[in-house]
Amino acid sequence: MSADTSAAPARVPRFVQLYRHDDARLKAELQAGLAAIPAQVSPKFLYDALGSRLFDAITELPEYYPTRTEALIMQRCSVELAAALGTVNTLVDLGAGNCAKAGRLFAVLRPRRYVAVDISVDFLRQSVLCLQREHPQVDMLGVGSDFSEQLVLPPEAGDGPRTVFYPGSSIGNFTPSLAVQFLRQVHTQCAGGQLLIGVDLVKPDEWLVPAYDDALGVTAAFNLNILRHINALLGCRFDLRQWRHVALFNRQHSRIEMHLEARTAQRVDWDGGHRDFAPGERIHTENSYKYEPADFEALLREAGFSSVQRWTDDRRWFGVFVAQA
Ligand code: AVI
Repeated sequence: MSADTSAAPARVPRFVQLYRHDDARLKAELQAGLAAIPAQVSPKFLYDALGSRLFDAITELPEYYPTRTEALIMQRCSVELAAALGTVNTLVDLGAGNCAKAGRLFAVLRPRRYVAVDISVDFLRQSVLCLQREHPQVDMLGVGSDFSEQLVLPPEAGDGPRTVFYPGSSIGNFTPSLAVQFLRQVHTQCAGGQLLIGVDLVKPDEWLVPAYDDALGVTAAFNLNILRHINALLGCRFDLRQWRHVALFNRQHSRIEMHLEARTAQRVDWDGGHRDFAPGERIHTENSYKYEPADFEALLREAGFSSVQRWTDDRRWFGVFVAQA
């Protein structure tokens, strides 16, 4: 018996790291935010190694409805979504992480190429390798890029129409004007293709606030962990026990706000500066905008998209949108 040499060789995913960590720039950004009145720190600092795990835990909480509601819509409406998207050549997954959300769509979307994008290829390596084993016929690429600053894809991502997948309502962590700017870049990247995006919708406070202030205190730990991360980056000594997690729905801006509130008066020093905090003073750490479906559709149109279609769950808590670029 001779070996079968005609079988196509197994595909191996490729990886490209575009983002370079710039310590000096991050430090300057943090110091400026801490010195500001009111103090503010970008939500990107929530995601160090522990923060990313805490976020994964949040998605399992009974109070945090967005992840499971979006998954339900994608599952129930997968055939309709696939019909709206048509042929998917290249599926670009923004903030891919463990690639699970995109992986669940492979059976219906049948992409020819999959491009997983996250800040570090190291986050992606294992998950893309696993997905490649399940889908040996798909060409796979992992890209390390801070797309929230600038969405660029390497030449390896190929050209031709792309389908950009941006789930999880991460778009809600941009202000609406920055969301339009970001979506314009997405539009450029998927010209001739389309966008599949998940967006959290406006609902009563009694459902919104517990989703960001859960009984177990996981979101509080996620928020407080930003101080640990800042301590490591700036070499300062925030005492986590002197701060408390605050989550509120600001209806005027239609956004959940997360803050950390000082329990006591304190001074925080770092190399070349310090900040005095009075009791009750806050550091603003995150906004999570909630949209009315028509308002989000208007945002997509402002960014250049057309033929917008949407699906929601029975309670109309979460929206999944397909828009043509
Ligand atoms: C990642 N992002 C969409 C989450 C949200 O709901 O805004 C982050 C989060 N913050 C607290 N809980 C979850």
